[in-house]
Amino acid sequence: MVDGLSKSGSAKNARVMVEKPFGSDLASAQALNESLMKSFSPSAVFRVDHYLGKEPVQNLLYFRFANALVEPVWNRHYVASVQVTMAESFGVQGRGGMYEGVGAIRDVVQNHLLQVVSLLATDAPADGHPDAMRDAKLRVFEAMQPISVDETVRGQFSGYRDEPGVAPDSQVETFVALRLHIENERWAGVPFYIRAGKQLPVTGTEIMVKLKSPSHAVFDTAAPGQSNYFRFRISPEVLISVGARVKVPGEVMAGETVELVAHRHPGDEMAPYERLFGDAILGDASLFARYDSIEAAWRTVAPILGNTVPIRYYESSSWGPEESEQLISRDGGWHAPVAKDANEGNAG
Ligand code: BG6
Repeated sequence: MVDGLSKSGSAKNARVMVEKPFGSDLASAQALNESLMKSFSPSAVFRVDHYLGKEPVQNLLYFRFANALVEPVWNRHYVASVQVTMAESFGVQGRGGMYEGVGAIRDVVQNHLLQVVSLLATDAPADGHPDAMRDAKLRVFEAMQPISVDETVRGQFSGYRDEPGVAPDSQVETFVALRLHIENERWAGVPFYIRAGKQLPVTGTEIMVKLKSPSHAVFDTAAPGQSNYFRFRISPEVLISVGARVKVPGEVMAGETVELVAHRHPGDEMAPYERLFGDAILGDASLFARYDSIEAAWRTVAPILGNTVPIRYYESSSWGPEESEQLISRDGGWHAPVAKDANEGNAG
């Protein structure tokens, strides 16, 4: 298509938007980039990842760097683990033919979810300039270790092979759970868990940043699920909250967890593609993925592409294969996004 645009003269003084996934592995991404660079200048290519156009994804960055209370704890000294779950209660919605060539890792992990992790993990950029932000994010992508086959679970929902366009012996994953390591000064030793799947019990994308327990327990003896946390709900509703412990009224010095809600919003007012098309027309690349980070993301997922990790089956409306629970059991288990968060009070 790029060659066709070029031959017809349509590439002259034009910009091009390329939808994700950008290639299907490192080699094909490099080839695609080379052919783009023959016809377009680097500043005329806009690599779309609609997650970057989501208002609550931008708020992650804003909340982190606009609040002095966040930065001191945002590192391996205080953070025990981070998890990101992108759950969808529907299947491939008639897109079986397309999905067969992709699977969950290429469809949402290599792009949307690693981009989200890069925003969670990045150091502060020097300033608000788009390239300063993208340089800072690149350093996180470069510190991401290639994901290990032993730390990945791939699943396929029963019934996927009956979808139109899907091979009867398909090995394509509709679910993935994995543990990622970011080897830098800030994050060494902190596990980042990513889980994404179709036909799960709810639709919702949430991030949980769990803090360590106080080093000296004066009141409650530290128990799992009692430490502070930050919860970011990216969709369908938007929420930023902090989990804190307070005393239960009465004689005993015993506590409960409450959620302090910093921000709650029924949804994204501007559709991400609306925002991204507008930005591309104006030539503003801030919310587009830069090629160097796409290459780094392909290097991160390279070991788990293909069928290096066996497929496990799971029932629709379950949380995926049992092995996914085992992967995270040492870090307190998965946090399940709730079905609807709009009127939720305490997390309990
Ligand atoms: C797309 C994927 O990029 O993102 C789909 O191809 C997925 O499989 C979709 O359902 C989810 O996006 P959103 O904005 O609805 O969370």
